[in-house]
Amino acid sequence: MEVYNFSAGPAMMPPEVVAQIQAELVSYRDSEMSVMEISHRSALYEEMFQTAKADLRELLAVPKDYKILFLQGGASTQFTTVPLNLARKTKNIAFVDTGHWSQTAIADAQLVPERKVDVVASGKSSAYSRLPHEIILDKPYDYVHLTINNTIEGTMYRKLPELQGQTVVGDISSNILGYQHDVQKYGLLYASAQKNIGPAGLTLVIVKESLLDKEQDLPSMLDYVKLIKRDSNLNTPPVFPIYAAGLVFQ
Ligand SMILES: Cc1ncc(COP(=O)(O)O)c(C=O)c1O
Repeated sequence: MEVYNFSAGPAMMPPEVVAQIQAELVSYRDSEMSVMEISHRSALYEEMFQTAKADLRELLAVPKDYKILFLQGGASTQFTTVPLNLARKTKNIAFVDTGHWSQTAIADAQLVPERKVDVVASGKSSAYSRLPHEIILDKPYDYVHLTINNTIEGTMYRKLPELQGQTVVGDISSNILGYQHDVQKYGLLYASAQKNIGPAGLTLVIVKESLLDKEQDLPSMLDYVKLIKRDSNLNTPPVFPIYAAGLVFQ
């Protein structure tokens, strides 16, 4: 009997991927080592990681001037990391309140020192059954944050609201690869893997490199510049979730 798991996440993976993982779990590519045992500095890992990254770039049509990071900490960690990295000029961040996950992102951004958070629109009056499309931005912001797919409320921006040319950051945790996002319309996109891609433990960040401040000096694991420089291999990466994600991309 096949069991269908309709939960938003962790969600079902393609059965052929799970079967392939089972078949090669004991010896990855005839290495006589499990993929869970191989070094993140080995050629085996390097090839697996580069293939997964290239496949994701192709699937999402990520332009060349955007970098892709494979990180840990879940989408929730990005609620802090994005303000630290992108809110550096005006230090003003605009949020659109579309329900639970946007509110969680707002609460964490408010805790980042020196940043000023404005909630510029809200779906509250419709009990979050509608997404705000009329958004007035009356000052420059480092970025406007949108939760593109609201997992709990079941709403999704199919077309981005008019944001007067300001940089858009999108949380696409629950519709990454389920919907063709136009990456160029965003400064940064982030998503955790466990809903649409693979096991929990992998978080994806796609960022337009020109938005980053090369002179910044943040704690290493929160610094996109340092993470890009080391191609997401600054500390021990989550090798197994990356392997599983790579199979799903294929
Ligand atoms: C839209 C959205 N953002 C963020 C998160 C948090 O993700 P994580 O559990 O990977 O931190 C979720 C999880 O359900 C989500 O649906």
